[in-house]
Amino acid sequence: MDNRPIGVFDSGLGGLTTVKKLEALMPREQIIYFGDTARVPYGGRSRETLIKYARQDVAFLKTFDLKAIVVACGTLSTTALNVIAAESEIPIFGVVTPASRAAVAATRNHRVGLIATAASIRTGAYERQMTTQDPGIRVFSRACPLFVPLVENGRFRPGDVVIETVVAEYLEAMKQVPVDTLVLGCTHYPLLMEIIGNYMGEDVTLIDSGAECARSVVKWLGVHDQLAGPEQTGGCQFYVSDSIEGFAQQASIFLEQEVSPEVYQIDIGVY
Ligand code: DGL
Repeated sequence: MDNRPIGVFDSGLGGLTTVKKLEALMPREQIIYFGDTARVPYGGRSRETLIKYARQDVAFLKTFDLKAIVVACGTLSTTALNVIAAESEIPIFGVVTPASRAAVAATRNHRVGLIATAASIRTGAYERQMTTQDPGIRVFSRACPLFVPLVENGRFRPGDVVIETVVAEYLEAMKQVPVDTLVLGCTHYPLLMEIIGNYMGEDVTLIDSGAECARSVVKWLGVHDQLAGPEQTGGCQFYVSDSIEGFAQQASIFLEQEVSPEVYQIDIGVY
């Protein structure tokens, strides 16, 4: 049993989709969330910049006494996880391995689609994981650079002609393949689940990388006897690097429930 909090971070608010899953699976856990809202999006940045940001994000979270850190960000999981995990004395979990495992288990025709940020696609990390697990799998990847800014600006609802058009443009080729499984390799994309699901059709299994990561964290903590005890009350404290104005409203959208969160602004540049 371990009542210390779990640190979770992302470039912005997308990682809250992973927090939602963690809270649903482990309602007694305390979570410290950091969203680097001053520097979102991460997805178009260089490897060097992303490693620098990841180190700063982890350094901030480590000002708390944590039992684990979750990189609720596909971009940093593909680009910087090995670096920050090697430097850390506490376990750090990313989204690539659990999402890849789930996709390999789900596909029947061995054709898997992958959508993620440009930085994630550039690394080939998801493809490597999937083809290592099953060399017969063919992965069709597509960077979707417009998704994160649209989602952060609230443009993810079915019927919104802008996002529906962008989804169709990005996914048309995968639909033609056809893939039978599609990995949402960025933690912002679960907000687009309904639109993507409607476009791809019900025969295509959508893999939520953040949700798969949350499941793997629960399993790991259980096996290592590090889940919070029965007396512990769960909750989440939020930290962001830009203004906290409007955060409660945005967080409610990402968490899909009304919240009036405890939220603080920090200067990530000092870490
Ligand atoms: N949500 C993050 C990811 O999973 C970051 C996206 C971005 O900031 O571009 O990749």
